[in-house]
Formats: sequence, C-alpha cells, structure tokens
Amino acid sequence: MANSPEPSSALYYYYLFIFKQLEVARKYTDYHTEKFGYKKSNVDFIYGYIEKLSEAGLKDSSFDIIISNGVVNLTPDKTAVLKEAWRVLKDGGEMYFSDVYANLNLPQELRGHSVLWGECLGGALWWKELLRIAQEVGFSTPRLVTARPFNVDNKDLLELLGDYKFVSATFRLFKIPPDCPRTKCEVIYNGSVRGCEQQLEFDANYTFQAGEVVEVDEETAAILKNSRFAAKFTIQPVSTSKTAAVPSGQRCSGQSKASEKASSWPFCFQDL
Ligand SMILES: C[S@@+](CC[C@H](N)C(=O)[O-])C[C@H]1O[C@@H](n2cnc3c(N)ncnc32)[C@H](O)[C@@H]1O
Repeated sequence: MANSPEPSSALYYYYLFIFKQLEVARKYTDYHTEKFGYKKSNVDFIYGYIEKLSEAGLKDSSFDIIISNGVVNLTPDKTAVLKEAWRVLKDGGEMYFSDVYANLNLPQELRGHSVLWGECLGGALWWKELLRIAQEVGFSTPRLVTARPFNVDNKDLLELLGDYKFVSATFRLFKIPPDCPRTKCEVIYNGSVRGCEQQLEFDANYTFQAGEVVEVDEETAAILKNSRFAAKFTIQPVSTSKTAAVPSGQRCSGQSKASEKASSWPFCFQDL
C-alpha cells in the first residue's frame, strides 16, 4: 500500500501485524531459493490489497502465476480481485487459488456478521458466481482442482447458517487470448514438469500420464497451447483417422484415467 495508516488507528495495528507476517515470509526466501534450485530468488513479498494490486505497484501483464489461499473470501469485491488478477497476469498466465464457497448467495445479514466473516464463511462466494465473474472478467472457465466440505462445528454458527453449506475448493483460472482457435486436440505430456515426471495432475478432470495420448476438449487444448504448459505437451488437432495420428500402443481411450474422479466440475457442490 502506498501510504501507511494513521498511527493509533485500528488499521495501523493491522498494518504492523502484516509487516510481521512479511518478515516471517522473507526469512525463508533463501531456503526456498536453494530448495527449488534457483541461483537467485525470484520472489518478493510486498504489502497491499489483493483487489488493489496497482496501489502495490504491480504492473499490467507482468506475472506468470498468482497463487492465493484463503484471501479472496475476505474481500467484499470479488470482481475487483479477479479483474486485478487478469490485469497483472501475462497472456497464458494463471490464477491458482483455494478458497471457501457457498451453495447459495448468502444474504446480507450473514455477509455482514463479523464472526462469520472472520471465519471465512460470511464472505464465501456462491460457487456459480465464480463462473459468472470469471467469464465477465475474461478468464477461462474455472477448473476445479480439489474440493472438500468445509464443516462448521460451532452450534451457534450452525443455527445462524441454517441450510447454507460450504466447501473449500481450489480452482485454476487461465488468461488465454479470447480469439485463439478452439479445437479438440490430442495431447501427449512429455514428463518435463519437475516433480511430476510420471504424471501431471492438471485438475479434477485431467491427470496426464507421461507419454500417453489424451483427447482433450476445446478449452483445455487452448489452455495447454497458450500457457506455460505449451512446452510440456505435444498437441495436435484430433485426427480424422485416429490410428494414423499417434504411435500405436500409446493411445488412451477418451480422457485420462483420472477423469473418473469427476465427470463435471461442480460435482462436489451438487450434494450440498
Ligand atoms: C486466512 S488468512 C490466509 C493466509 C495465508 N494465505 C495462508 O494460507 O496461511 C487470510 C489472509 O488474508 C489477508 N487479507 C485479508 N484481506 C485482504 C485483502 N483485501 N488483500 C490482501 N490480503 C488480505 C489477511 O491479512 C490474512 O493474512
């Protein structure tokens, strides 16, 4: 943030607290630089609001990936968060984030409840709203990676919440050119993502085994072609004569085996 708040204001104490958090993060920079095999650190920790990244000095089209865990639900303006993320990402960039989602739009009385807000529940987005906002901002369809129920134990809160239910979910949103060609493709993962040499768990629908041919839908193909994954895959349009297109013995029938995990991404919400 450009200016620090007035000393003695409540916000000032929050500001000091965040600076302590930044100190802790910075302490481990060298450890991670070495662990991930970099000569020089490629991370920087700065103070700012997720929905106002320009105030923190983050420039347009300058990042490959944004990672966030449990922050988006704490901001009242989710559209601003996604717009800012889209702005600072390079073409082909990705927002990979975990958060809490609700089965319905929460009413104002729950959204404005300070305890529910602090528990990451009051600010939880209706999962269908994520789809709408992502589309409005220009991201690809949110791709679910994992999801699990977010259980509330406190009796008072449970009573307050009634039929509203929550899940904790991780999504991937890609910034790909809107006019890029979209055709179904056959792709082969080449095993070159460090730590994922045998298989690459892409999302709940696709786990790519190295060397295996997988037919992917139009949007997945566009993402793989236009993101940092382009160098990790051989990608070609689905051939009319299937057997001629790929070496025999390598073909996977339909999607990868992991597609059985989730046939459609909102599967985890349907039981709510
Ligand atoms: C539930 S914690 C998650 C922290 C961390 N990501 C983790 O996984 O441990 C939420 C964090 O979001 C930060 N936060 C809340 N509102 C924010 C905003 N509008 N912009 C940026 N950070 C925010 C809080 O300061 C807090 O550190």
